[in-house]
Amino acid sequence: MQKTLLLFLTALAVTFSAPMFAADEDPNLQLIKARQGDMELRTYSVMPLFGMAKGEIPYDAEQAVKLVNNLKLLMQLDIGSAWAQGTGNDKYPGKSHALPEIWSTYPKVAEAGKAYGAAVEELAAVAGDGLDALRSKIGGVGDSCKGCHDDFREKE
Ligand code: HEC
Repeated sequence: MQKTLLLFLTALAVTFSAPMFAADEDPNLQLIKARQGDMELRTYSVMPLFGMAKGEIPYDAEQAVKLVNNLKLLMQLDIGSAWAQGTGNDKYPGKSHALPEIWSTYPKVAEAGKAYGAAVEELAAVAGDGLDALRSKIGGVGDSCKGCHDDFREKE
């Protein structure tokens, strides 16, 4: 009994001292980090595909399929709430690069997201079919990343 109580109190102490739960942390910062993490994973997956298309790294069908499947998996994440209104670069300068136009021109950003999804699906259909097939569809993916960034991400 004594031991159980002690364990319980220890667990509580650990829980409340974990920086993750710090009371003064603005929860919107967590949202911003989550969506930036999604973007970083897209980059991680798409860069080698660009590299293959450019001939900088050898084409590998199996690897290409794996990478484009990552992009498809990321599209399944249900993280719309990470794009909460009021979390753009006007309110979080230096933390977020998301332009307030995301919300003021909604649903334009959703259309850009759909165009990206379609480009990924088109690439996924052929990524394992050889270098020429990869090259024929990778540009569409790059254009859709850039298209959305041009309109909705702060210029670097
Ligand atoms: C529908 C719009 C949209 C699409 C499509 C899109 N992005 Fe983004 N991306 C954004 C926005 C908005 C931000 C800024 C997010 C923030 O800082 O809050 C961003 C940020 C980023 C960042 C910076 C992340 C960070 O850590 O600050 C990278 C890298 C990135 N995107 C890569 C990509 C790549 C690669 C693709 C395509 C494979 C892509 N994005 C597709 C809208 C998009």
